[in-house]
Amino acid sequence: MDCAYFAAGRCGSCTELPTPYDVQLDAKERRCREALADHPDISGVSWLSTAASATEGFRNKAKMVVAGTPQAPTLGILDPSGTGVDLRLCPLYSPAMHGLLEVLSEFVVRARLTPYDVSLRRGELKHLIVTESPDGEFLVRFVLRSTEGVPRIRKHLPALLAEHPSVAVVSVNRQPEHKAILEGPEEEILTDRLTLPMRVNDRVLHLRPRSFFQTNTDLAATLYRQASSWADEVGASSVLDLYCGVGGFALHLAAPGRRVRGVELSEEAVASAVATATESGLAVDFVCGDATAVDADAELVVVNPPRRGLGPDLCARLESSSARWVVYSSCNVTSLARDLAQLPSWVPRRARVIDMFAHTSHFEVITLLERR
Ligand SMILES: C[S@@+](CC[C@H](N)C(=O)[O-])C[C@H]1O[C@@H](n2cnc3c(N)ncnc32)[C@H](O)[C@@H]1O
Repeated sequence: MDCAYFAAGRCGSCTELPTPYDVQLDAKERRCREALADHPDISGVSWLSTAASATEGFRNKAKMVVAGTPQAPTLGILDPSGTGVDLRLCPLYSPAMHGLLEVLSEFVVRARLTPYDVSLRRGELKHLIVTESPDGEFLVRFVLRSTEGVPRIRKHLPALLAEHPSVAVVSVNRQPEHKAILEGPEEEILTDRLTLPMRVNDRVLHLRPRSFFQTNTDLAATLYRQASSWADEVGASSVLDLYCGVGGFALHLAAPGRRVRGVELSEEAVASAVATATESGLAVDFVCGDATAVDADAELVVVNPPRRGLGPDLCARLESSSARWVVYSSCNVTSLARDLAQLPSWVPRRARVIDMFAHTSHFEVITLLERR
C-alpha cells in the first residue's frame, strides 16, 4: 500500500507498512505459533491457512481526532507537540469514506464547531468517528466537550442528509473530561434511523453508535464463517456466545435445532443483537450480563474477549462447566496463551490466523478447543 502520510513521516500508525504484505503475514503466523509454543498439546494443532486482508480500503471505521482551526479543521491524529495532522485520505479507508470525511470537514466549518485544543483545554469538537457499512452507508458520530454545538449540528443536519443520503445515522457523544478516552457515556441520536445495517455474509447486523464492531468487515465475515463451520463440524446442539457484542458469532451459529444464547455487557449492543434476531427470524436469546459470571452451560462456548483475555474466573468456570467445545477468538495472542495455560482440560485442535489489522503487528487468531 502506498501511503503519502507514512512516506512523509506524518503518520507511523501502520508500523509494518515498509514490509511486503506476504512477509507481514508470514511474520504474524510465526509470532502466533511462537506465542503458543509452550502449550503441551500445540504440536497436535491443525493450522488452517491464514486469512489475508485486502491491503487497502479495508478499515470500516475512521476515528479522527479533530484539531486545527474552525476555518481549517484537521481530521486525523495529533503530532507529539499536540498539533493536528490531517489524515483524511488515509488509504486504509475506502474512496467513499475519503469523500465523506471531506464533506464532514466542510460541515464542521459551516456549523462553526470549534476543534478542541488539548493543551489549552478549549474548544468543542474532539473527534469524528465514522463507520462505513458494506453497502456504502455511514454512521457519523460527533464527540463534543459539551452540548454547546448541538443546536448548530441540528440546524445544518437536514442539508447534509439531503445531499448525502448515504449518511444513515448521526449522533453526538458528550465527552466533557480532559482524558485520552475517545468518547463519553452520553450519546444522542439525531437522525430518524437509529442503526447502521452491517451486512455480513447472509446476516444483517444492526450497529448502534456505541457498540463494538470488528473493524475489517470482510475478515469479520471470514471469522464468523470459520466459527460456524466448526460448530457444524462438531455437531453442537447448544451454543453460548460470551462477549457477543452485536451478536456476530451467535447469529451466524444459529441453526435449526440448535439452542443459541449470547451474553454481553453493553445494553446497547444487546438491543442491536435482539433487533437482528427478531428481524431475521433467528431463534437466539441475548442477555445483558457479565460474561465472567455466567454458567457456561452449552455444548459449545464461543469466547471473543477484549485484549485482556478471559482471566482466571472465566477460565475456572470453563474448566468446571459441562461444555465440550470452545471456540476462542482472540485479538491478543499473549492473553490467549495465558488463558490456555489456565484451561488444562482443553486441547487445541484447530487454529487460524485472521489478518484483521493489516500493516500493524496485530492479528486475530481463532482456535477450536476440545475437552480432553
Ligand atoms: C472483542 S469485542 C467482541 C464482540 C463480538 N463478539 C463481535 O464479534 O463483534 C468484546 C466485547 O465484549 C464486551 N465485554 C467486555 N467485557 C465484558 C464482560 N465482562 N462481560 C460481557 N461482555 C463484555 C464488550 O462490550 C465488547 O462488545
